[in-house]
Amino acid sequence: MSRTTVLEPGLTTSESPFIEQAQQRGQLYISQPYELYSDENHEAWRKLYSRMLPRWERYANEHFLEGIGKLCLDPNRVPKLDEVNKFLRPLTGFQAKAVSGYIPAFLFFDCLRNREFPTTITIRRSDKLDYLPEPDIFHDIAGHVPMHTDKHFAETLVRFGECAHTAADLVSGIRDPETRIHCLTSIIRAMARFFWFTIEFGLMRGRDGLKVYGSGLLSSHGEIAHAIEAPEVQRYPIQLEWAINQAFEIDRYQPLLFVVDSFDHLFSLVDQLEGWLKAGKLNNVAPGEPGVNEEDLKSFLRRG
Ligand SMILES: [Fe+2]
Repeated sequence: MSRTTVLEPGLTTSESPFIEQAQQRGQLYISQPYELYSDENHEAWRKLYSRMLPRWERYANEHFLEGIGKLCLDPNRVPKLDEVNKFLRPLTGFQAKAVSGYIPAFLFFDCLRNREFPTTITIRRSDKLDYLPEPDIFHDIAGHVPMHTDKHFAETLVRFGECAHTAADLVSGIRDPETRIHCLTSIIRAMARFFWFTIEFGLMRGRDGLKVYGSGLLSSHGEIAHAIEAPEVQRYPIQLEWAINQAFEIDRYQPLLFVVDSFDHLFSLVDQLEGWLKAGKLNNVAPGEPGVNEEDLKSFLRRG
């Protein structure tokens, strides 16, 4: 008797039936069905981790390197979120929370306010390690979460979340619907840009020169070296007014990166961002990327 071969589905980026079904049900927050990871998924993690390790040692800031140690990640297996959280939660109260994919802007920032980090559970294909159409668990757990073990950095993320609430309060007081949408679009764009140029692609000046703390760089084998070494990259001390008005493109190495002095410095910039938000300075930032979609706007207007 012949049997139909059931191919192991795995939890591969853009190829996972489990994720597709969750998305069809409109389910944003999910569990991590660990048994679904295929051997290829674990192989992708092993390859990604082993080739990043020497680059982290060379280019990453000290808080990240300490964080990697504190999380006790297994170099050979995709991490279990529950286990990561066991090490993470006692340090800063943060925890990784499994999601099915894109999270609208307000919900994302609100998670940060609650010390939850929306975490993708799929992983890129093992034969296309440099191709990343969307965030994956390597970006989220190996790139972001080690930073969440640092108290100052964790407080900065919480402040981002508080800014989103301040923004929602502010725009709810704007009576004219057209003006409300215009201002909200601009505010979300400004926040997304600031997040991009710090949390995702930030550099920090330290005792041993320039180091990386941005998670987009910390999870990219090619770009982490490019960010520090390439002579053509523009690296400037961060200016808030510049970052919030600066468009960026996501599908290329970043030609412009901003440098902070410390996480205290970064925290003070988020404070300043909230001050500018209240003063109305974010209501008309320069147009351009990133786009702000309908779901992002709705999430702020509904606060959820
Ligand atoms: Fe990210």
